[in-house]
Amino acid sequence: MISPSMQQALADQLNREFYSAYLYLAMSASCSHNDFNGAASWLRLQYEEEHVHATKIYNYLTGQGVKVTLSSIDQPPSEFGGLLEVFEASRRHEQEMTSRLNELSDQALKEKDHATYNLLQWFVNEQVEEESTVGGIIAKLRLVSDDGYGLLMIDNELASRSVAVI
Ligand SMILES: [Fe+2]
Ligand SMILES: [Fe+2]
Repeated sequence: MISPSMQQALADQLNREFYSAYLYLAMSASCSHNDFNGAASWLRLQYEEEHVHATKIYNYLTGQGVKVTLSSIDQPPSEFGGLLEVFEASRRHEQEMTSRLNELSDQALKEKDHATYNLLQWFVNEQVEEESTVGGIIAKLRLVSDDGYGLLMIDNELASRSVAVI
């Protein structure tokens, strides 16, 4: 049995995962417009991955007999700047998501809701991986700075991501 306040907290997180998906799709559209097609493809796969995250929470709630009420999704920005700014915005967003997931985990522990805590630990681990991946991309982008050839190399490398790692 999930407490009403935990149900609400998970419904809010479900919304945030959909917003994440939306944000990555907006980033993908921006990169696509700026002809960074590798980054656009990478971000598009990240959009799909965030969609899977949202579905994972949805499935958990419905599986536990909770009636899910969906709320509206905020509009993401449409301009992000260059590639470095895109991935810095991604990192800021993921850090915010990590702190929200930590708060949710604290609540689950406090309520001795171990099933929810278990679900949330999957997300906490996923955040570690996402922050590390995005951090690696940012490090490379900082290295090449405004060098056009370097940016093209990184864009090509981003194009090689073939699946939404879940
Ligand atoms: Fe996520
Ligand atoms: Fe994420």
